[in-house]
Amino acid sequence: MDIPEIDKLTESTLAEIQAAADLAALEALRIKTIGRNGMLPELMANLKSAPDKKAMGLALNRFKTSVTQALADRKTALAAAAESKAVAAVDWSLPGAFPRRGKLHPVTQLIDRTTAIFRRMGFTVADGPDVETEYYNFDALNTPADHVSRDTQDTFYLPGGRLLRTQTSAVQARYMEAHKPPVRIVCPGRCYRRDTTDATHSANFHQIEGLYVDEHVSLADLKGDIDHFARELMGAHVKSRFRTHFFPFTEPSVEVDFSCHMCHGKGCRVCKNSGWIEIMGAGMVDPNVFKSVGYDPDAVTGYAFGMGIERLAMLLFGIDDIRRLYENDVRYLDQF
Ligand code: PHE
Repeated sequence: MDIPEIDKLTESTLAEIQAAADLAALEALRIKTIGRNGMLPELMANLKSAPDKKAMGLALNRFKTSVTQALADRKTALAAAAESKAVAAVDWSLPGAFPRRGKLHPVTQLIDRTTAIFRRMGFTVADGPDVETEYYNFDALNTPADHVSRDTQDTFYLPGGRLLRTQTSAVQARYMEAHKPPVRIVCPGRCYRRDTTDATHSANFHQIEGLYVDEHVSLADLKGDIDHFARELMGAHVKSRFRTHFFPFTEPSVEVDFSCHMCHGKGCRVCKNSGWIEIMGAGMVDPNVFKSVGYDPDAVTGYAFGMGIERLAMLLFGIDDIRRLYENDVRYLDQF
């Protein structure tokens, strides 16, 4: 091959490289031209016998550098084209893959909401054990062993005078024994009763207890505070009403209804057409309770209340069966 022929070969090789359709074709060209067993090594082998070694050497060098450069340029161009094709193939309007977000259980949500309301009113959050003594669950609360109300709060008894607490009221005496008045606490927690499970009963449920003890605490304080709580939790239009009732540890005792948050008291399915919904038990702390914790009933008065958390959650979220709260069906609970 003479020099003009080599220059021609260079031209045609460059054109071929420019026309390579993809990276595989380009690689084949590289092997064929400057590869170990390609054209260039073969031409170099003939260099020794060439008549004008220097000019021939320069021509071969032109071949090598321009082909090497063209291969690299074409490679970059093909790679860029492949990338933009891949990008164009993506549908950017498709929704992303989101991880499922966790959520607080409706009962936890209601514990948080109720405690938050009472915290703003100056209450602190207290706690007590689920496994209680008969003393704190009943005796200290003016409910001796022969009292009829023990029957309605039958529970799971354990050896050694212990039981699973039937009410968060058990925290009242515990707290007062450990703290001097004034006392202003709420206590959310689990309670247990030997109830047959149905749409509104569960052997394990939650209550929130409230206790306010100081000088001159009156039933009017209870009414005002409960009214405020009703508005904060259920809506500004909701009112409360007291009905006389009996609890061993409060005197007088009341049951508290809220006006129906759904129909504003007109009567609907939720309030069973009465316009009112029973929410909690409450009353003025019985002097006997103060005596059992060592408070002077002539020096202090107080109110207490207790309500079921599940009931609040069911009312606010429109849940029709308490069992739905315990089935752990995330598809169901996720709605709230
Ligand atoms: N512990 C009562 C119950 O479980 C509710 C209650 C609490 C009543 C505090 C009066 C005062 O029904």
